[in-house]
Amino acid sequence: MIVLANNENPLGMPESARRAAAAALQGAGNYPDSNGTALKHALAARLDVPMEWLTLGSGSSEILTLAAQVCAKPGEAVVYSQYGFVVYGQAAAHAHARSIVVPAHDFGHDLAAMRAAIGPDTRLVFVANPNNPTGTFLEGEALLDFLQSVPPEVTVLLDEAYTEYLAPGQRYDSMGWVRRFPNLLVARTFSKAYGLAGLRIGYGVSQPALTARLNAQRPRYNVGTPAQAAAVAALADEAFLARSYQLNAAGRAQLANGLHELRLASIPSSGNFLMAQVGEGRTVHARLLAAGIEVSLLDNYGLPHWLRITVGLPEQNAAVLAALRDHAPAR
Ligand SMILES: Cc1ncc(COP(=O)(O)O)c(C=O)c1O
Repeated sequence: MIVLANNENPLGMPESARRAAAAALQGAGNYPDSNGTALKHALAARLDVPMEWLTLGSGSSEILTLAAQVCAKPGEAVVYSQYGFVVYGQAAAHAHARSIVVPAHDFGHDLAAMRAAIGPDTRLVFVANPNNPTGTFLEGEALLDFLQSVPPEVTVLLDEAYTEYLAPGQRYDSMGWVRRFPNLLVARTFSKAYGLAGLRIGYGVSQPALTARLNAQRPRYNVGTPAQAAAVAALADEAFLARSYQLNAAGRAQLANGLHELRLASIPSSGNFLMAQVGEGRTVHARLLAAGIEVSLLDNYGLPHWLRITVGLPEQNAAVLAALRDHAPAR
């Protein structure tokens, strides 16, 4: 089975991280370092922020969930975009908060409408850049305008799960924004470009007051020793990251061009996946499964005519395009 359903790295885990995780198993009879000292040290140096500004999570999903718990009391509001990453609604529900879902603009976040949706009881706004599943991207300038316009008592969680896949011209200095805005929390993950999805490790970056609240809420041993060790190794493995980036950029273009040739619409994506309009999503999904390829349904996002395809190895991308040629109606 070719699995292009979960936005994982088709290269798998870096060899450097595999070795580090294996070595760390020696000590796995003991609880992990609850402060994640070695990893925070490495991250602090890389991001140029103090260690006290970091929160480690069991995947960045846990950072999203913690943020809702810490920021929103039951009944208070959490704002996010239509087609925003599915965990935002789950995190709000888990905190018994009220979700305000703002209609998307061209499948992406409508920042002006999101700002307008912030009311007196809004405590948290989720912004994904790029967003999953749409792959849509917000320019740094627009994000900065948004951050400047949000009241200080409202936390903005900027979800950068796919940030390592951004082209150089798209990048912006979100760490500079964290230094400037005490209500900004940037969430990142080792699950995507770093290839460690199965180890469950991500992190949040925010000023000390918010970070202290997140860490107070965080389960003490939420990130295991092998995951911490693997993340330290992966962070240092710049060759792997560069390879992941190149493979993704080429594969995403291969998929986009192939879909265009098949006359299937797709949304320009800045992530490691692409959303394609295939007709009846469930039918095409089932046919692809029968052909040995798993992609992701999007009816839970209200997008029943679209499928999300993770960028794979070149031969996997070719296989999904060939299967779509055989099984999706041309339009
Ligand atoms: C936008 C976005 N944020 C966060 C995550 C969370 O990933 P993880 O919990 O593996 O770090 C994902 C995973 O698919 C995602 O797409």
